[in-house]
Amino acid sequence: SALHPFLAALPKCEHHVHLEGTLSPNLEFTLAQKNNISLPGNDAAFTSPSSLLERYSHFTSLDDFLHYYFVGMSALITSSDFEELAWEYFKHAAEDGVLHAEVFFDPEAHTSRGVPYQTVVAGFKAACQRAERELGISTELIICVLRHLPVESAMEAYETAVTAGHFADGTLAGLGISSTELNKPPANWKAVFAKAEKQGIRRTAHAAEEGPPQYIADALDILHVQRIDHGRRLVEDPVLMKRVADEGIMLTLCPISNVCLKGMSSMKDMPIRKFLDAGVHFSINSDDPAYFGGYILDNYCAVQETFQLSVDEWNLLAGNAIEGSWCNDERKRELR
Ligand code: ADE
Ligand code: ZN
Repeated sequence: SALHPFLAALPKCEHHVHLEGTLSPNLEFTLAQKNNISLPGNDAAFTSPSSLLERYSHFTSLDDFLHYYFVGMSALITSSDFEELAWEYFKHAAEDGVLHAEVFFDPEAHTSRGVPYQTVVAGFKAACQRAERELGISTELIICVLRHLPVESAMEAYETAVTAGHFADGTLAGLGISSTELNKPPANWKAVFAKAEKQGIRRTAHAAEEGPPQYIADALDILHVQRIDHGRRLVEDPVLMKRVADEGIMLTLCPISNVCLKGMSSMKDMPIRKFLDAGVHFSINSDDPAYFGGYILDNYCAVQETFQLSVDEWNLLAGNAIEGSWCNDERKRELR
């Protein structure tokens, strides 16, 4: 589109990308071979990187994707695997004009298969430091606890991070919750989020990606989150939408992800205009770019193709993304 150079140059903040969701089929196969990990032999999708990529073009739901996402990350074993994964992402983000990246990872998905928490964090942290040094982008790591596992597992993951001193020393910027959503109401994780709140740790939650808008209200009222990840279905509840706008709660939208996982049938159904008209703050993000075939700039461009926003609207969105970031005020001033 005519605005492509403008969108490429626009200073961007990414708030919603799962580092494990940046694992390409090529790197997955390479690391699986290096680490002697066998990918499922009973699923023809794992015949080759190209057949796996082809399978990614027709996900039927969040859970259908999550199966491949959790299998894929089983190829990650050593700190240098995690470092390579994150470094490749940061390079791509920098090329897309990202100046500030807040990235999720799933400690339980690694500790549950015998990879120590410290191995994961050492690799990701090394990549973050390299990105700051060599690419000039600021980075924040956020842990996500997993909704398909029992709350005890989430509490253990959270406590492991606290005991490591990783919230106190700035290695981790906050706590989130992700994975399968239907029939996993936010209230189940109240104890973990209450502890984080008491300890002054920032909080966010995936909500209303597939689940009902009520999960947004629950995340705000029960988990006391400061952001909502996705929140796409907020548009179905105008009263809640006004509240989210009034309270300045930012949604971290992932448009290409929502189309890929069949949350909606086409980009036209993404409530971009409705959120803009209602004064809801949101950022535009990639979620799991290696699985959905689009990094952050692809998401910006897809939104532009469908909604034809003005330059003023894009500048407003870019400003809201900076304001909603979890960096310090000095960095926010630099980003503006
Ligand atoms: N984990 C990785 N990507 C996710 C998504 N889109 N929704 C929920 N959990 C996820
Ligand atoms: Zn996500």
